[in-house]
Amino acid sequence: MKTFDEITQLITTELEQINWSKEPTGLYEPIGYVLSLGGKRIRPALTLMACNIFSDHVEQAVDTALGLEIFHNFTLLHDDIMDRADVRRGQPTVHKKWNDNTAILSGDVMQIAAYQFIARTPADHLKKVLDLFSQTAEEICQGQQYDVDFEKRDAVSADEYLEMIRLKTAVLLACALKTGAWIGGAGEEDAQNLYDFGINIGLAFQLKDDLLDVFGNEATFGKKIGGDILCNKKTYLLIHALELAVGNEASELQNWLKISDAGLADNKIKSVTTLYNKLGVKAICEDKMEFFYTKAIANLDNVRVAENKKQELRNLAEKLMHRND
Ligand code: IPE
Ligand code: IPE
Ligand code: MG
Ligand code: MG
Ligand code: MG
Repeated sequence: MKTFDEITQLITTELEQINWSKEPTGLYEPIGYVLSLGGKRIRPALTLMACNIFSDHVEQAVDTALGLEIFHNFTLLHDDIMDRADVRRGQPTVHKKWNDNTAILSGDVMQIAAYQFIARTPADHLKKVLDLFSQTAEEICQGQQYDVDFEKRDAVSADEYLEMIRLKTAVLLACALKTGAWIGGAGEEDAQNLYDFGINIGLAFQLKDDLLDVFGNEATFGKKIGGDILCNKKTYLLIHALELAVGNEASELQNWLKISDAGLADNKIKSVTTLYNKLGVKAICEDKMEFFYTKAIANLDNVRVAENKKQELRNLAEKLMHRND
């Protein structure tokens, strides 16, 4: 069994070997740039770790894993335009360093590259991997659309939010696990349990991302703190704040939601964060995270292999709950 660190090292080495020094440089340079900035490499790691549960030959899943990481990075290029985010992984985002058109077109070519890598999945698994991947890619677009739709909507329920993050985030983690399991030779039931593990870990992962966006440290998180507040993102925090606030706190929160003045950005972040603290929504979000984490571990328990084969995934799930980046 390979450790998570060995697996991420393998992915980094493989990613570094891809040649993005092609013409026109305006199209390919941003791809080399974003992929060189690191990131946690969670999705390809999940593919290789799931594969490794059932097979010693993780190399058979490497191209699929790389495709998923390239795809994830493509979604970030477009997401950062949509979210007006200027910093990622501690560096300027592609649309900031270049421009929106660059982030759109380099993103498009990354999506194509993702398909090219995934098309190298071993032939006996290719059809179902491609089908699941295409379904997942479409679901992510659905989730992203809900995410931006919700910015403009006054009332969003917690259930609507959870479905939105299932689509925009959790399905890709789940897809990464299931494809790895298939390639490793897992049976359908184990592959599905790993998919469900991915959904629950993914929901917890996005809740944590939303928490870090408010309460994280800019240097370790690598993104600008308060970005979600500025966009009026209907996060689990905001949804519960809207529900719990009464009287002055309710009107203060409603007022801040109407303000998009760049000059008041820092004030808005500070004031909304203060309201979150007064209303105790951080603990509500952490409880929900814990709830999905527990469900995820139950899914992992259901995978019928020896305990030691699942230990690395268990460790990773735990680590993701306590992450700062
Ligand atoms: C960022 O994903 C987008 C979300 C789904 C929250 P990651 O937090 O995995 O980003 P990197 O790849 O590690 O930078
Ligand atoms: C990201 O959600 C989901 C996708 C990129 C598909 P966020 O918008 O919260 O991700 P970050 O915080 O920008 O990484
Ligand atoms: Mg977004
Ligand atoms: Mg974003
Ligand atoms: Mg976020």
